[in-house]
Amino acid sequence: MKERELINAAVAAMKKAYSPYSGFCVGAALLCESGAVYTGCNVENASYGASNCAERTAVFKAVSEGEREFAAIAIVGGKGGKITDFCPPCGICRQVLSEFAGAGFRVLLFDGENAKTLLLSELLPHFFAKNNLE
Ligand code: THU
Repeated sequence: MKERELINAAVAAMKKAYSPYSGFCVGAALLCESGAVYTGCNVENASYGASNCAERTAVFKAVSEGEREFAAIAIVGGKGGKITDFCPPCGICRQVLSEFAGAGFRVLLFDGENAKTLLLSELLPHFFAKNNLE
């Protein structure tokens, strides 16, 4: 799948965002090694801490369908659903992605005009992982 297609899937997912409290809409599209794509949006809650980010929605959808190997995730976001800047994943989402992401896992960001690709290892070096529990 082309990077641009994955970004388009994230843009479409962003339109489903449920964010009446922040007004900030986020969409994510997670490409699995199988070739399947799982999308997600942020889902907020009146009890703010119960809200879920778009990236984690996508990861949890994929894992609950039996996927565990991921190649890339595209993320877009903006106030009122207008994309004017890059929307990097929050720290909790970086940690959740690190559970399943291999060394080459890519994070694609799009600011409405330009795309950039980062490695998760750049975004979250020295992360806490399974081996730390041994
Ligand atoms: N949000 C995401 O969905 N992903 C991120 O990585 C950053 C933040 C959401 C959470 C909340 O609904 C809104 O954006 C404002 O923080």
